[in-house]
Formats: sequence, C-alpha cells, structure tokens
Amino acid sequence: MAASVVVESGEDVFRKMFKFYKRRDPPPDLRDVTDFSSGVKKNCSKVMLLTAVSDEEAACVGLQPIRDWRAFGLQGYPGFIFISNPFLRGSQAFWVRQCLKTYPQKPNVCNLDMHMSPSDTQEIWARSAQALRWEKRQPKTLLERLRWVTLGYHYNWDTKTYSANSYTPFPADLHMLSVRITVACGFPGFNSEAAILNYYRSDSSLGIHVDESELDHSRPLLSLSFGQSSIFLLGGPHRQDPPTAMFMHSGDVMLMSGQSRLLYHAVPRILPALPQHAALLEELSCASALQTGSVLEPVSQEDWDVCSRYIQSSRVNVTVRQVLGPGQSFPEEPINTWSQRNVWL
Ligand code: OGA
Ligand code: MN
Repeated sequence: MAASVVVESGEDVFRKMFKFYKRRDPPPDLRDVTDFSSGVKKNCSKVMLLTAVSDEEAACVGLQPIRDWRAFGLQGYPGFIFISNPFLRGSQAFWVRQCLKTYPQKPNVCNLDMHMSPSDTQEIWARSAQALRWEKRQPKTLLERLRWVTLGYHYNWDTKTYSANSYTPFPADLHMLSVRITVACGFPGFNSEAAILNYYRSDSSLGIHVDESELDHSRPLLSLSFGQSSIFLLGGPHRQDPPTAMFMHSGDVMLMSGQSRLLYHAVPRILPALPQHAALLEELSCASALQTGSVLEPVSQEDWDVCSRYIQSSRVNVTVRQVLGPGQSFPEEPINTWSQRNVWL
C-alpha cells in the first residue's frame, strides 16, 4: 500500500484507497500500482492458458495466438486472470469502432434513452461524427454524453436486476470474442447474455461495487478495456479488505472467476495512455491482413478519424456477463405478489 495512505483499524480501507487514487491535487504516487504490461511483478505469476483455441480461431476475433498471451494470476485472488493486451496489431480499432458506432445503436439501450426520445438517440454516431471534427464544440455531441450502453439482457440500474422481458439479441461478434477468451481461460460453454459498456471521460470514475446481479456466479465475468488507461482496484469479499491497485491499458482483458467473481472493485481514475499503448490502439488492419472468416471488418479512415478523436480523451470498458446458468430461468414476475408478501409478514 502506498506509504502516504494511513489507515486506522476499522476504517473502510477500500474507500481510503479509492479517494487516494482519485485525488487530483497533489496527484497520487503511482509506484504501488501493478503494471502487468511490464512483465511479472511481485505477488504475480504467469498463467499457462489452454491451447483449445487455434491460431485461426483467435485471429478471427483479432487475438494473438494463445501461446503468445501474457496472462497473469495474482496471489490471494484465485480465479482472477489478467491478460496484458492479447489483441493482434491493428485489431483494437475494430472493437473500438463497434463500441462507439455499432453497439450504441438501437435496439441496444443507453443512458441517453433515459431522457431522450428514440428518434433523438437513433443516430448517435451520425449526429456526432461531423461535430467531433471541430476543435471547440458546444454543446457536447451525443457521443461525448454517452455514459453506458447495455446489450442482451438489459441491466436495470434502479432495481439492479436483469429480466426476461428486457432482452435484445446479443451481438454475434462480441459473443465470439468472449467465447474465445473464456475457452482459453478454461471456461468452455460461456454464454454472453448481457454486457455493460462504460464510457469514461478523463475525469470519470466508477464507484466501489460487486457484480452480483447475475443469477449464476459460477460463470466468469469478462472485462475488456480500450482507449485511455485507468487504475483498477481489486478488493476482497468485504469492504474492509484492502484492495490491490493495477493499471488497465488499452487492449487489456480481465477475467473474474471462481473465488474472485464476487470481489469488491472500482475504477478511481482515468490516466492518459502512454505512447506505447496509444500506438497499438492507433494501428488499423487493412482488409488483406484479415483472416478468412474473420468477424473483423476493416475500419475506414473516415470512421477511425472520429474514433481516434474521441478515444484520445476517453476510455471504454466492456464487461460481458453470463446471467443464467445452464437450464436456469428468471424467477416468475412479479415476485412480490401479495400472497407471497403475506407469508413473510
Ligand atoms: C463494471 C466494471 C470496470 C471497468 O462495469 O461493472 O466493474 O474497468 N467495470 O470499467
Ligand atoms: Mn464491476
């Protein structure tokens, strides 16, 4: 833990650490933040992944051959796997384009739908693309006002639940990517049923929480990060447990499974990407470099100009979730019928 964080017993250590890394003035000391992009660190071990995914299958979703992945485990966090940017050169751009142009489109749901009509949120990309080219923009474009998008079973932020009657088809390309990663990590049969995309500006953060709304916690939670870097805090099963701080750079993938599936975590800070991470993000694959059968499509220079401008000050994180176990279904709705309530009273 950073020397300057003084924690007395009984205090919420996680909250202290969150505030420490979120602080702007003076900026926090980042020496205790684990950086997996620079090799094996203390308390980390290299993880050997399964080669059940062929090089072709990996390349079809923009991933390097599994044997080349730099995957790490963290002491004290069984089931947590950190894969330091396993994407092929030139392929991150496709996933960024999907997150900015494709996934915010209807029928998917986004924060702008909460106070705007569907006709106004129909064309987030088209209505932002032109204006994003201008240096000084007022008012902000829809893309800049985007905070979250939900896919598949749409997460209800008020009730913190998913439900059978709020579902739209999950994007096939993102499912394919999720399957390839989870298979390589030893979880065959993963069903991508829901995803939450978070869009972070340079001053955004994500509070301390556990992802427990999914009905089956035996399935892993998959996280993909693109754009600017961030600090991720991974705590324990209790708020009092001190968290471990790590950097998440563009292309990094994380898997929370087993005993690490239900741990407290948070993103206190977004940091500018270092040149070596930004350079990989900025590369574009040309059509001829794509594997036959690839789900990737070349990203046009015109689209990339817009993505690049946006992502230079933003971070996008995608968490893919399996909500239901095999054969499981949502409880009958509504669950709080009077007869049930009377039993409890
Ligand atoms: C989440 C989450 C982490 C991130 O959406 O539940 O924890 O890196 N995201 O944005
Ligand atoms: Mn989470």
